[in-house]
Amino acid sequence: MQDDVLGLLRKQTGSYMSGEEMARKLGVSRIAIWKQIQSLKRHGYDISALKKNGYILRSSPDLMLPAEIKTGLKAKMFCAKIHYFTSIDSTNNYAKKLAQSGAPEGTLVLAETQTQGKGRLGRSWFSPVGRSIYFSLILRPDVLPAYAQRFTLLAGVAVAAAIKKTCGLTVRLKWPNDLVVVNKGSYLKLGGILTEMAAESDRVNYLVTGIGINVNIDKNEFPADLRSRGTSLKAQDTHNLPVARVKLLQQIITEMEHYYKRFLKGDWENIISEYRDFDILVGKTVRIKQGEDIINGKVMEIDSEGRLALRSKNQVLRVIAGEVTLQK
Ligand code: BTN
Repeated sequence: MQDDVLGLLRKQTGSYMSGEEMARKLGVSRIAIWKQIQSLKRHGYDISALKKNGYILRSSPDLMLPAEIKTGLKAKMFCAKIHYFTSIDSTNNYAKKLAQSGAPEGTLVLAETQTQGKGRLGRSWFSPVGRSIYFSLILRPDVLPAYAQRFTLLAGVAVAAAIKKTCGLTVRLKWPNDLVVVNKGSYLKLGGILTEMAAESDRVNYLVTGIGINVNIDKNEFPADLRSRGTSLKAQDTHNLPVARVKLLQQIITEMEHYYKRFLKGDWENIISEYRDFDILVGKTVRIKQGEDIINGKVMEIDSEGRLALRSKNQVLRVIAGEVTLQK
């Protein structure tokens, strides 16, 4: 309902719309409209009211409220339900709880900040308030657990495509889950993907694909240990201009839905081929950490199953997971 009220105010940009007309259009009472207007104001929307003329939207806050995300969103299946938080421990944790209690595919959990944002391998994810994008999507593909990794790769392609379309920036992918930008021959981390799942031995119950993107973080805002390795979309802009988070998130969701539908239609071969276009590892010497084990080798390809194939001591190894470090 709040989405609809905001939608009407937006359509009417520059002129007033009476509470009565809004109520008629939405099939609710004028009091219900008034309540939604008060709630929007509390969130920081500047809405003026004139007894005679009705309401006019003067400006919007830089928040990723569901009403904002849904206005003009092209995706249909994803985002039918959005859970929005100004602060949460981790969107992935919340999405897992929702998924366990039966939330449908496409449910989105979104936050302005995370107090315990999670990275891969037990690391934490830097999540300053209102500066970036942190969200998790519930998926329920009918696939074997071994396929789970494919959704991390698919999400990488979708996010890279969305960033290209929205900001014009070329993002590259470091297998399996890093979004990076190339800077004077080195790689700076722009974002990451964390897919978690619940499965039986032969079937995925649900997947939660969590995505974090550094959007409007200034270089000096990164904690010292990330400063030389991390970057943001704003920091990559020639004029250091901020990026509209809502627009970017809308495009990411649209691309995610596009690639996910293609996956369901059996188009994996082409998706992984697109992933290869973004890849930075092929031909490089790497060190892969898998728990206590270390593998050194030269990357040959991302194979058709999304594994990293590397030549190591005259053997070809196909790795499904691990932490990859580029060697000089
Ligand atoms: C990584 O590169 O290590 C993965 C980072 C994933 C971060 C995102 S932010 C939204 C979602 N919620 C989390 O707690 N983590 C993921």
